[in-house]
Amino acid sequence: MTKGDLMSGIDKILVSREEISKKVKELGERISKDYKGQDLLLVGVLKGAVVFMADLLREITIPVEVDMISVSSYGSGTDSTGIVKIVKDLDVNIKDRHVLIVEDLIDTGLTLQHLKELLATREPLSVKVCTIFDKPTRRIVDVPIEYNGISIPNYFVIGYGLDYAGEYRNLPDLCTMKQI
Ligand code: IMP
Ligand code: MG
Repeated sequence: MTKGDLMSGIDKILVSREEISKKVKELGERISKDYKGQDLLLVGVLKGAVVFMADLLREITIPVEVDMISVSSYGSGTDSTGIVKIVKDLDVNIKDRHVLIVEDLIDTGLTLQHLKELLATREPLSVKVCTIFDKPTRRIVDVPIEYNGISIPNYFVIGYGLDYAGEYRNLPDLCTMKQI
């Protein structure tokens, strides 16, 4: 793939920036209502959730704290290995706090399941999940998603934080890739 032309690997736009933005606003409103008066910590999953986190944060109208965790589940290819490991842990203590995991996309659910189990051992008051994208047909493990954004078909997608081999995260729309 040639460096220097961001659009060269793109097949088509699957979810436009306008649709994404509308959904993010909706999720922010729901979260603000549901957690009103509570101590809420948003935990973003690096690196994919960075773009969503930045947008979601600004649609939340109650006080929140933000932290990030990095869990690696994919190599540089397009298929889940099922292997997950903590690459960067949280900075803050989550004991007795309400935690909301912020994800870019739930695919097999393996990463999320692992992360929820890990965070639960630290005795938070609650651990819930907010994702902007969901590929329900790919699920291997059933994990409840309290705030589910936009369901998409089983394509490998890039943009809005999601990458292929580290690239394309800066595309504002969610796109499918050309077959390479
Ligand atoms: P899961 O463990 O299979 O649910 O997937 C975990 C993570 O893999 C997601 O949160 C994404 O960051 C990444 N991922 C899954 N599907 C895609 C995709 O189509 N494009 C880019 N990244 C993906
Ligand atoms: Mg992710």
